[in-house]
Amino acid sequence: MDRIVVEGGRRLKGNVRISGSKNAALPVLVSSLLVDGECVFHNVPDLVDIKSIKLLLEDLGARVETNGDTVMIDASTVHKFEASYDLVRKMRASILVLGPLLARQKKARVSLPGGCAIGARPINLHLKGMENLGATITLEHGYVEAHADALVGNDIYFDVVSVGATENMMMTAVLATGVTLLRNAAREPEITALADVLIQMGAQIEGAGTSVIKITGVTSLKPVEVQIIPDRIEAGTFMVASAMTGGDVTITDCTPDHMGGIIHKLKLSGATVLVNGSSIQVIGSDEIKSLDIQTLPYPGFPTDMQAQFMAMMTVAKGTSVFRETIFENRFIHVSELIRMGADISLSGGNVATVKGVARLSSAPVMASDLRASASLILAGLIAQGTTVVSRVYHLDRGYESLERKFEMLGGAVRREKD
Ligand code: UD1
Repeated sequence: MDRIVVEGGRRLKGNVRISGSKNAALPVLVSSLLVDGECVFHNVPDLVDIKSIKLLLEDLGARVETNGDTVMIDASTVHKFEASYDLVRKMRASILVLGPLLARQKKARVSLPGGCAIGARPINLHLKGMENLGATITLEHGYVEAHADALVGNDIYFDVVSVGATENMMMTAVLATGVTLLRNAAREPEITALADVLIQMGAQIEGAGTSVIKITGVTSLKPVEVQIIPDRIEAGTFMVASAMTGGDVTITDCTPDHMGGIIHKLKLSGATVLVNGSSIQVIGSDEIKSLDIQTLPYPGFPTDMQAQFMAMMTVAKGTSVFRETIFENRFIHVSELIRMGADISLSGGNVATVKGVARLSSAPVMASDLRASASLILAGLIAQGTTVVSRVYHLDRGYESLERKFEMLGGAVRREKD
């Protein structure tokens, strides 16, 4: 297994290009299941999670061809309706095939994803939504089995704002008869990106990006050629890296409009943030100011940036309070940051109080999930000495060429084989 070795103490400087968004690419690639014919997707990041979804689509019978960052998927040869445990357990987002398979073949059998490091992550909202459109759902032998004679539009209210459930229901409803309303829908840019692709395929969707989405079913969809949007979390991670190392980094090919919360908090921390079209320049200040963060559904502050900001706040002047409201177990990086000298205390299960210290010191640390891995590398960038982050396979799920990009910015970040 690989590990990442970080020598602390270097200021980052230069330009870094942001890759395509993992969380936008996953549902968009899956949406090709709704179409007979060749769909072409550009700017697809080269990540383990993307490989997992391509394997799953191939296993279902789709033809998948990759050429650089372009992926062609032709689902006209799909013959299976079952996503096996072996493929689904590698990545929870595999549950996104349930909706399109059901819409396409009126039946689907998908392994239950199970828990993961950051919490239980149930799929009850996905299943309830599909039942509301007329599907019968049973849970047998660890699999969700769904079938429907016909899918009929309905008025659906989500008790919790869920990105995955909103995406799955959009993909189920586009081929249903009549009108579906998704109320209390997620508003993330990845939702709008998926809706844009479905609309280009011929779907009738209004209100994506707001909390009520209206979908009028159509009888068939057509192939598309589309570009995956930039990864706002990768962009945010490099922005924090620049701010906390006192650096001067310009993040290119990103969508600043998707990063309002991140930009606002970085400015409060004392960094200078200059937006110019699709580029953002972040200049770190000599002193990092403490700040409070509460994670919320978009346009609130993203839970996927909480761990990275916490790494920065370990050396801020003053005390910062982090309140995690999306996932119940998303502070696993805290104990590792403490091993590097951070002063963090946890209370009430979802609150972390971070008292800034003068400096961090390097230590061997263990990555526990994707964004926690990024947080530990950021901490390594400012720690005295050499930090070794093991279990980095989490990182490869979501960051393309992370160590190469850091190296290009002058950071001493390298990968080693165990
Ligand atoms: C997606 C993102 C993930 C991000 C998260 C929140 C992808 C592939 N992953 O995950 O990076 O951190 O959004 O922005 O896009 N919930 C239920 N029942 C359900 C579904 C969800 O109770 O049926 C709860 C979850 O436990 C959680 C909350 O809803 O507390 C939000 O989860 P959700 O938005 O569904 O996250 P994902 O789509 O899994």
